[in-house]
Order: sequence, then C-alpha cells, then structure tokens
Amino acid sequence: MKLVAPSILAANFNHLGNDIEMINQSEADYIHCDVMDGVFVPNISFGLPIIQAINSIAKKPLDVHLMIVNPDKYLEDFYHAGASIITVHYEVCSHLHRTIQQIKNLGIQASVCLNPHSPVSLLEDIIGELDMVLLMSVNPGFGGQKFIENTCVKAMALKEMILKKNSTALIEVDGGVNFEVGKKLYNSGVDVLVAGSFVFGSENPLETISRLKNL
Ligand code: DX5
Ligand code: ZN
Repeated sequence: MKLVAPSILAANFNHLGNDIEMINQSEADYIHCDVMDGVFVPNISFGLPIIQAINSIAKKPLDVHLMIVNPDKYLEDFYHAGASIITVHYEVCSHLHRTIQQIKNLGIQASVCLNPHSPVSLLEDIIGELDMVLLMSVNPGFGGQKFIENTCVKAMALKEMILKKNSTALIEVDGGVNFEVGKKLYNSGVDVLVAGSFVFGSENPLETISRLKNL
C-alpha cells in the first residue's frame, strides 16, 4: 500500500485550521499527530485540546503518535479526543500486550513504535495483534532531522516477519522522509510515509502529498 500521513508538528500553529483544511483537500490518508511529554523525548509538543480541535474539522483519520511515558493512563482520553489509530512506544510499555488490548477494546487501531535502536525481532510475539508498526527513522523528539538509512533494512525484516506470521499489520515510517527516501521505503515494503517538514516546508504542500503517494 502507498499511504501518506502528513505530520502537523511542522504545520503553522497560528493558522492550524488552514493546514488541516489543506490536508482535508489533499490525497493524504491520515493526519499524523505527534504528542510529546518532555520526559520520554526531550521536547514538548501538544496534547488533548489540540487533538480535539483538529478532530472537529478533520476529514481524515487521526494517527496519534504518543511519545509519552505511561501511555495507558491516557488511551481513553485520546480516543475521546478523536484518535483513529493510537501508536505507543515499545520502549515505555512494560505490559505491551495489555496496552494493545486496551487500545483495541476502544474500537480503534493499535500500533507500536520502535526507536532506531530497537530491533524488529522484539515484536515477534505481538505482531499478530497489531494493526500497524511505526519504525522511527530519526530519534524521536524533533522534526527536520536526517533519515537513518538502516531503517530500510529494518522495514524489509519487518515485512518478512509480517508475512511469515500472517499478520495484517501495516508498516509506517516516521522521520526525514522526502521523495528519495520515500521511494526507497516503498520498495522496502513500507505502507505509510509520515512527512512533516518536507510537506509543510514545500512550496505546494498539496502537490508534495500527491507526489509522495504516487512515487
Ligand atoms: C519526530 C516525529 C515526527 C516528525 C517528523 O519525533 O515523530 O512525526 O514530525 O518530522 P520530519 O518529517 O520533519 O522528519
Ligand atoms: Zn511521529
């Protein structure tokens, strides 16, 4: 699959509504929302009220990436704020299986994110439960960083695992995505490209989204 999720971390927060309208009119499949707590990652972004505001005008599903410790505590709140997909980080979940069941019991999609240093083999015993796996291709916390090339190898290994285990999980990649990187990722079995600064920093974001989908 070739899906695109623009990350609103790179949007203009003074005119966030305009950027959401742009995404509504685009070929994007999801709106990627990066929630950062300043504890798990060295940055603070935004939380529930912003997600709620986005949801009130969004015509695309919200793909909520939680870069927070203790995600279990907030799953219901993010569901009520409008999340269609919730991604939690492997690195902060001691009882990942329980966390995943809690997300699925809310009737939404459950996804797990791996930091660049976490091998895909960590997911072998949970892959059958997942709707999506998010591979970080930068260290989480900031937009505009350089893509880590090893992510392609990880994506290929993950794809193999998904096929072997008859899983239906999609593979999403987040960080440093542009046309060149996107092409390599699709060729490595990736289904969903997240792109922040490349979309919002471009002259024509609508066209950039369309081109990312049709690489
Ligand atoms: C980084 C975030 C990303 C970020 C990507 O921690 O998870 O979603 O917005 O930004 P770019 O596309 O600029 O690397
Ligand atoms: Zn993200």
